Amino acid sequence: MDTRELIGKLHQTHALTFEEWIRVIEGRSPDAADELFRLARETCLAHYGRGVYIRGLIEFTNYCRNDCYYCGIRKSNGKIRRYRLTEDVILACCRQGYELGFRTFVLQGGEDAYFTDARLTDLIRRIRREFPDCAITLSVGERERASYQALFDAGADRYLLRHETYDESHYARLHPACLHAAHRQACLRDLKDIGFQVGAGFMVGSPYQTAEHLARDMLYLKELDPHMIGIGPFIPHRDTPFAGKPAGTLELTLYMLGLLRLMLPKVLLPATTALGSICSDGREQGILAGANVIMPNLSPPDRRGDYALYEGKLSSGAESAEGLADLRRRMEGIGRRIAVGRGDSLNQ
Ligand code: 5AD
Repeated sequence: MDTRELIGKLHQTHALTFEEWIRVIEGRSPDAADELFRLARETCLAHYGRGVYIRGLIEFTNYCRNDCYYCGIRKSNGKIRRYRLTEDVILACCRQGYELGFRTFVLQGGEDAYFTDARLTDLIRRIRREFPDCAITLSVGERERASYQALFDAGADRYLLRHETYDESHYARLHPACLHAAHRQACLRDLKDIGFQVGAGFMVGSPYQTAEHLARDMLYLKELDPHMIGIGPFIPHRDTPFAGKPAGTLELTLYMLGLLRLMLPKVLLPATTALGSICSDGREQGILAGANVIMPNLSPPDRRGDYALYEGKLSSGAESAEGLADLRRRMEGIGRRIAVGRGDSLNQ
């Protein structure tokens, strides 16, 4: 089967073998990509219509105990100003977001020991009480199963934890020896078992990544069947061991988005900040390749610069809560609109 036939098979059956994944990735061409994006858009429109879901992202702490080689907020980066938002400031971000129309708040942070279960559950309960009609999404890394259960019981609905790369040896080249792919995957399994709507995902073009690694990621995601999948290009950060490594490309990221949409037709697929950061209309292109979620930044503007996972990370304009009007225009420019509501996955 050639690449177009493989795309046709994926469209029909929503599955490919390991060898076929490698071939569809390595054999890509601009024509095949156009065909893929057409099918991916059609699939997305059939399930979700023209609405693009928005989530308000609150980056509430940039302290992190981990030392991932790619990440700008890694523990060993002594050059960034560390901050942690107070409960009151986080609540104020939610209030501002609610006024703007957000009905999902994503609390994302480094793995910050300050945020014990007691502190996080207090925070979640406060948000839950004040915004009973909103979804609360957490993205705070690897924790014990009992901790995940406590966060869920306090009222959190969703949890984002990218698997980063399925392959253990590739994972080991991106992370210090104390972190393991298998543990990351066990966390995702626990989160799903507890009842969270989960988001997994990976970086495209991370150092040492091959088509085989991406093929393994696709097979893993098919099996995990998460509600959401966040992918974006790797972008080097100067104060990390991966400074100077080449960035992932827009082209491959869009292609992977299209493949993900055909493999899991109902999955929530964000056009991520990283995609918007490598190209001025990256998010629009992401939507046109099959994505259907955008996550503008609700963090206090004076803190955003400090949450630098990579260089050139967008935090204003259409990437920000204040820039919602700009985002709305951009979406209308490609025949789409911003959807109101929590935007739950159709895949319950
Ligand atoms: N480039 C792109 N994405 C990155 N992330 C962290 N560092 C980088 C980088 N340099 C992604 C990781 C993480 C998510 C919050 O951000 O995939 O899970």
